[in-house]
Amino acid sequence: MVKNITFRNGKIRYSDRGNGRVVLLLHGFLESIEMWQYFNRKLEGYRRLICVDLPGHGGSDSYGYEHTMEFMAEAVKAVLNTEQIRKCIIVGHSMGGYVALAFGEKYPDYLHGLVLYYSHPFADSLAKKKDRDRAALLVSQNVQGFVRASIPMLFAEKYRTRYKRNIQTLIRRAEKMSAQGVADALRGMKKRKDREIVMHFAPYPVMWVLGALDPIINIEEMELASQTCTNCIVKVLPQSGHMGFIEDKQQSLAAVRWFVNKIYGAPVR
Ligand code: MLT
Repeated sequence: MVKNITFRNGKIRYSDRGNGRVVLLLHGFLESIEMWQYFNRKLEGYRRLICVDLPGHGGSDSYGYEHTMEFMAEAVKAVLNTEQIRKCIIVGHSMGGYVALAFGEKYPDYLHGLVLYYSHPFADSLAKKKDRDRAALLVSQNVQGFVRASIPMLFAEKYRTRYKRNIQTLIRRAEKMSAQGVADALRGMKKRKDREIVMHFAPYPVMWVLGALDPIINIEEMELASQTCTNCIVKVLPQSGHMGFIEDKQQSLAAVRWFVNKIYGAPVR
């Protein structure tokens, strides 16, 4: 079921499916709750799945000049409060992972576990911050052009032809976003702080799913960083780029399902 709540005078849309212990799924930049269709189908038989459209994305409103990761985390908390959910596992894809870590820092008691799904805990480099400024400018001139150019680049090069239709679908959905919503997220990501420490000292288990073919995350750097995270279970999927929910959906689902079952116990069928 798709629902809406009012949060800070705006609308936040989310879906609520299945029964059982709660897994909350957060999409990445330019995405929406629709990205989780496969996960919903496979898990809803025995888990309750809440997917939230982050501010400015999908059916959720844009709020202003920037959507910080903390602000987005507050929107997620408002959904949990509405549903009277006291604790859950959060899975965050890329930008959704940044939001999950901001949530984990602010509300650690609300988490049974956290999955960084093709994401990482680091702040933007100086070069990346400049890229964000350039992107925000481009978005103000031609948001659809920005969306059309950006989405294919999230896929590993070898998949860009194979998943052409999926790419078109993602583009069609993202083209509906307002320039404001896209730019607000860019500015929010630019401003985010490093949260490696949150991940290292989290009082809940953390899983870090990475794609060996990810074109936008430096996998060698991440693997090195992950060695010092004693709290993390790291899974590098050899056939995934950044968009494992399409490029390697079975394996990436298997990784998440394994982690969820480890925390909640295997489902009784
Ligand atoms: C995403 O997929 O959410 C973004 O590419 C993350 C980012 O730009 O840092």
